[in-house]
Amino acid sequence: MKGYGVTIAGIGRYAPAGILSNGDLEKLVETSDEWIVQRTGMRRRHIASPEQATSDIAIPAAKAALEATGRQPSDVDCVIVATATPDYLFPATACIVASALGMTGKPAFDISIACSGFIYGMTTAASLIRAGAFKSVLLIGAETLSKIVDYTDRSTCVLFGDGAGAALFERSDEDCFLGSELGADGADPTVLYLRGGGSRLPFNTNGKADRSAGFVQMQGQAVFKFAVNMMAQSSRNALARADLKPEDADFLVPHQANARIIDATVKMLKLPPSKCVTNIQEYGNTSSASIPLALCDAVADGRIQPGNVVVFTAFGGGLSWGAVAWRWGSARVGKLPQENIEPERPAHIVPA
Ligand code: ACO
Repeated sequence: MKGYGVTIAGIGRYAPAGILSNGDLEKLVETSDEWIVQRTGMRRRHIASPEQATSDIAIPAAKAALEATGRQPSDVDCVIVATATPDYLFPATACIVASALGMTGKPAFDISIACSGFIYGMTTAASLIRAGAFKSVLLIGAETLSKIVDYTDRSTCVLFGDGAGAALFERSDEDCFLGSELGADGADPTVLYLRGGGSRLPFNTNGKADRSAGFVQMQGQAVFKFAVNMMAQSSRNALARADLKPEDADFLVPHQANARIIDATVKMLKLPPSKCVTNIQEYGNTSSASIPLALCDAVADGRIQPGNVVVFTAFGGGLSWGAVAWRWGSARVGKLPQENIEPERPAHIVPA
């Protein structure tokens, strides 16, 4: 499809003030800083307070993206929130975010495709603009995964963190969208899932649901192998839509699930490690927020420059996967909110 051009005009991020370190996790489960760093690359994660829901962290990220562009909420035509941890099963978190930003009346909807959410959201936002449906779409990837993590299960509790990242997509003369590839395979949803709360196992089962139904569950090694193959393959295919090859990419911004998954993907694509953007040590796996959080870092520190070809890729529950190839424009990063620089101990998870 080729219609109007689309660019990303501004980006923003927010990470809650709570910090859960590997040392904190050593107090909760039988693990070690050494194991976590070697097997995952993670050192700490940001954790929402018990009062903070996903919309509460999506809103400051969205405000930061708007602030970076000088646009007002009234300039935005549509709001999309990609999340696996919505405020409620319904209504959509995007409706809550849009109204809080002063956009009541504008279309707003969620994308629920786990860690692939930002990639599906980028493709949706860009396609809506290219087709002429909207001139401006605000996409936010936001998660409070700490709410669905069992902090007695060492196989999952070390992996996940909370955060949000936002991007404002706008119609433009130049078309920055180079190509996209999305995919899904739902043959075995239990590879990576939250068992309870949906229609398969509703909350109102009068006590039949066990405790684990409320926590993320995962077959780690199965996800690992699939992740590497699908991120590499979809990155190649997204670039091929613009007759580009992996070596034409200036940067790879992958979903931050595990440093070893990222390293293996970089090797499979035969890219130099310096072209890969990672910040997993700071945030852990923040699902649909991980790509915009990494993007914000690389734009803020001047690594990603106007004109660069950037490939974004992710995989996640579904199973699902995807990649977007993008020519970076001149988007700025909104100011980091104060909360990001005053860490707190998440006392509801690690008591003093
Ligand atoms: N600390 C110490 N030991 C641990 C821990 C821990 N936190 N977790 C597991 N172990 C142990 C296991 O019990 C096992 O012990 P054993 O050999 O005595 O049985 C050993 O470490 C190895 O376990 P593996 O599961 O084989 O470890 P692996 O190297 O595969 O790493 C990991 C596990 C990090 C989970 C890895 O498989 C992974 O990253 N998988 C992908 C996860 C992922 O990307 N999920 C995406 C979620 S995204 C979304 O959509 C929400």
